[in-house]
Amino acid sequence: MALVGTGEIVAPALLAGRGVGAFNVIQLEHAQAIVAGAERAKAPVILQISENAVRYHGGLESIGAATLAVARAAWVPVAVHLDHATSPELIRESVELGFTSVMFDASALAYADNVCATSEVVARCHAEGIWVEAELGEVGGKDGVHAPGARTDPAEAAAFVESTGVDSLAVAVGTSHAMLTRDAVLDLDLIAALAEAVPVPLVLHGSSGVADEHLRAAVERGMTKVNIATHLNKAFTAAVRAQLASDDHLVDTRRYLGAGRAAVADEVARLLGVLRA
Ligand code: G3H
Ligand code: ZN
Repeated sequence: MALVGTGEIVAPALLAGRGVGAFNVIQLEHAQAIVAGAERAKAPVILQISENAVRYHGGLESIGAATLAVARAAWVPVAVHLDHATSPELIRESVELGFTSVMFDASALAYADNVCATSEVVARCHAEGIWVEAELGEVGGKDGVHAPGARTDPAEAAAFVESTGVDSLAVAVGTSHAMLTRDAVLDLDLIAALAEAVPVPLVLHGSSGVADEHLRAAVERGMTKVNIATHLNKAFTAAVRAQLASDDHLVDTRRYLGAGRAAVADEVARLLGVLRA
């Protein structure tokens, strides 16, 4: 199975009305855990690395190559995606490394500038067979398009997709990035209206703040790619904390990172069941 194109995972899910889990990789253990969870759930999965995570590692190559290696060794379909990239150079590097898709995030720009910048990225990526996700948002606000009050207009979203040729669209429907509680209120009618108006798969960012039943409802109303990062880090960190607290003499990093990795694998397997339902 191994590494496949992102469209090969997302397109069939859209047709079948299923959700696809897209989980963020920061350390190697995340990639290993996410694939282990997907194998247990017998479900395809997307591993994604954000521009922020690249900054943490001081460059894309080491964590990107390691993540691709984990994907290639998997026995379920796995895609590797560059998340929230604002830099065209980083996008180019990810394509050269073998990533299967990119998210170009020009949501901080005014609409016309976003269309122009995104169209250029789409043309370059499509020439290499790379799937492109983009984001349509509002200028301003601490969390931009992902502020809880931000909303994507269906007609504008349809026009944006038409003008840019993107393969999927991140939309604002009530979520916010990096929530530690799962009590975001989704605008389910807006999700349905967007799914009706927009001919490409919709992407939900900031899904850590959404409870299981609302994730299920979002998929039922037409959401396809579901991005989850913070929620897995909560599971990872809680397991590491518990392991460290259990033994003052523990110094072997494998003992506590391994516990974090196992906790993330459990949660990924569970969440993929929720998204598929
Ligand atoms: O692009 C990644 C996500 O939108 C993850 O957001 O950390 O709030 O789950 P989250
Ligand atoms: Zn995001």
